Amino acid sequence: MKNILFVASECVPFIKTGGLADVVGALPKYLDKSRYDVRVILPKYTAIPAKYKENMKYKMHFYMDFCWRSQYVGILETVVDGVTFYLIDNEFYFSGDKPYGNIYEDLEKFAFFSRAVLSALPLLGFRPDLIHCNDWQTGLIPVYLHDSFQQGAFFRGIKTVMTIHNLKFQGVWDKKTIQNITGLSSYYFAPDKLEAYGNGNYLKGGIVYADYVTTVSNSYAEEIKCAFYGEGLDGLMRARSNCLCGIVNGIDYDEWNPETDKYLVQNYNAQDFRKEKKKNKLALQEELGLERNPDRFMIGVVSRLTDQKGFDLVECVLEELCCDDTQIVILGTGDPKYENLFRHYEWKYKGRFSANIYYNNERSHKIYASSDAFLMPSLFEPCGLSHLISLRYGTVPIVRETGGLRDTVVPYNEYECSGTGFSFANYNAHEMLSIVRYAKHVFYNKKREWNKLVDRGMAADFSWKTSAKGYEDLYLKLLGE
Ligand code: ADP
Ligand code: GLC
Repeated sequence: MKNILFVASECVPFIKTGGLADVVGALPKYLDKSRYDVRVILPKYTAIPAKYKENMKYKMHFYMDFCWRSQYVGILETVVDGVTFYLIDNEFYFSGDKPYGNIYEDLEKFAFFSRAVLSALPLLGFRPDLIHCNDWQTGLIPVYLHDSFQQGAFFRGIKTVMTIHNLKFQGVWDKKTIQNITGLSSYYFAPDKLEAYGNGNYLKGGIVYADYVTTVSNSYAEEIKCAFYGEGLDGLMRARSNCLCGIVNGIDYDEWNPETDKYLVQNYNAQDFRKEKKKNKLALQEELGLERNPDRFMIGVVSRLTDQKGFDLVECVLEELCCDDTQIVILGTGDPKYENLFRHYEWKYKGRFSANIYYNNERSHKIYASSDAFLMPSLFEPCGLSHLISLRYGTVPIVRETGGLRDTVVPYNEYECSGTGFSFANYNAHEMLSIVRYAKHVFYNKKREWNKLVDRGMAADFSWKTSAKGYEDLYLKLLGE
């Protein structure tokens, strides 16, 4: 039996801002329990809903020297779906209504978190054989492990994996400040270690010091070795390429299942979607004040509203998209530029365009189930989960061929009757528009073809079963058995 510890800044069901939380909430459940004792550790944010906090049991507390002060570290424990979760408590760092705030405070918050995680382990009596770190917030763990923590026998030999969910976010500030916050010596602030372009960089530290680096799709693992996608670290990614691989994400098939989804007015499956799916569309049209018409082509979007997701392409041809015989439903928050753009279009195209500028899990389920197509024209996409959810809900993805989108959506080929979605290659608004119009043409004029596309999409397997095996093979390689 090997012990694995997952460390992350967010995790379903406790707290979520994006796909990272979905992955950390699902993957541990799907690892082979007869071979791995997998536990997860995350911050106990005050923003975690009370119903989860009520089930957390106080385990212990201690004081830790950090940032020139002696700081309280509380540890709580809870078990969900057979997985043990530890939560690090410190209200100075983890209060507020969301997990992240301004980057300067976040840098100190996650340095504290990383140090607290390692300091807690001997007291918890849980010695991981491998620590699985996720994104920049946990990048310091392999560094601290290499530094002060290697001295004790407890920590010696612990392996680390660093998973990059998004290379764009690296945790960067000037060297001196990072040195002050982290307490690391100047030895670590050199270009072959934590320093990047004169600054201190948490994620770079994690990538340099982890035993193995993974990212969330094969294509993204290749892309980040090039300058365009490498976010300034492409040289490092090339240098570490013998210890770098992509393992594509899955989705939690228990949570995302149109047959049992409790938020839908009508459940459906791969056999009866032709008749039943559109009942959800009718209900959503009613709910959102859109024209009630089960045959109208509906495009859904559930996303962070940022440049990463390709909204500048959408902005460029939004007028054309709205004038077509189409309804558009957007759910998301983010850049005020896009939030306001979509509010404006809702006002301008009442009954055809719905802008839902907030975060709401229930509504997201309804949009996945009700839409005919799901638009995700990302500039870059490490993996993407929304389009995988869409596939499972019989909602045909329209994506740009990048990262995980490229690896998981098979483009429709009308001559071979193959494919699970529509895709375009260049980051060009009119290329996107023409592929959306092509999808709409198939929807309106070749209904049987469209339904077969849905059949193939719903039959595709993006459960965690296959992807969890990828991580198990990696653990085996690093730990032997
Ligand atoms: P990213 O992690 O880059 O934001 P992913 O596609 O990997 O993108 O994951 C996004 C996750 O967040 C999906 O589960 C999606 O349904 C969810 N999500 C995004 N925005 C919202 C929102 N406004 N309301 C509810 N869920 C959302
Ligand atoms: C990041 C990426 C997204 C990925 C998610 C989970 O937020 O932007 O593509 O699916 O992490 O790995």
